[in-house]
Amino acid sequence: MRLTLFFCYLWVALVTGQLPPDIEKCEAGDSTCIAETVTRILRLHPKGLASIGLDALDSIGFENVIVSRIEPDGSATLDLRFHNLTVRGFADSTVAEAKGFEAELPRVLEIGGWIPLLKLEGFYEMHGSLLSMPIQGKGQAQVEIKECRFRCKVRAMEQFREDGKRYVEIAKVKCLLDVQGMHLNFKNLFNNPELSDAMNDVANAKWLDIWHTLRKGITSAVDQLVESILKRVADKLSYDDFYRN
Ligand SMILES: *[C@@H]1O[C@H](CO)[C@@H](O)[C@H](O)[C@H]1NC(C)=O
Repeated sequence: MRLTLFFCYLWVALVTGQLPPDIEKCEAGDSTCIAETVTRILRLHPKGLASIGLDALDSIGFENVIVSRIEPDGSATLDLRFHNLTVRGFADSTVAEAKGFEAELPRVLEIGGWIPLLKLEGFYEMHGSLLSMPIQGKGQAQVEIKECRFRCKVRAMEQFREDGKRYVEIAKVKCLLDVQGMHLNFKNLFNNPELSDAMNDVANAKWLDIWHTLRKGITSAVDQLVESILKRVADKLSYDDFYRN
């Protein structure tokens, strides 16, 4: 009997996308419950949850990430790109606020919260100037971002499908980010270990200026990441099945 139920659950999950039994659903409009539920999904399933189209968030790999590009008008003076980049820590996010998750889907949903520690590691290449100093290098880099607060606005549209359920079509995601600390370690700057250490020390003493310099590029990378994660979930889990009734 249990086995039959299990296969029945599996079948439903494969066809329409359902939250697993360890996640209690909320009433539409109960924003406190919804924020807690989203946090719980991330905590219990850091490796992702195929039944709702959720990718693993504990470690995410990227290729060719452009963080900053020199602008001819002088508004950006640095070319910084990661050939490859692994980001760890997203699964420890706490969602503290969830706005707009009502029975009637509004045009904008909003989620806010924080991530205690993000660890980025990858192979970088950069040249240009940073903090008014010339800089150039290519090699391994590690960046730690402490206490990142986020607020993301998700532009959404309702979509009725043939299964008779409402789905959310995600048009655009825009996030605001703020961080409490950042630690950088770019190896092999100027192809010179001593100079590299000295430059990293300067950069870490002025991490807030560096954050302001790189914030735009990092934010737009986060916008794209959040958009692709949410799109996959919204495509699999209907808006109706997200709620209790
Ligand atoms: C990242 O790219 C560098 C240079 O292209 C390469 O040497 C390194 O093996 C790559 N690392 C990973 C984890 O793919």
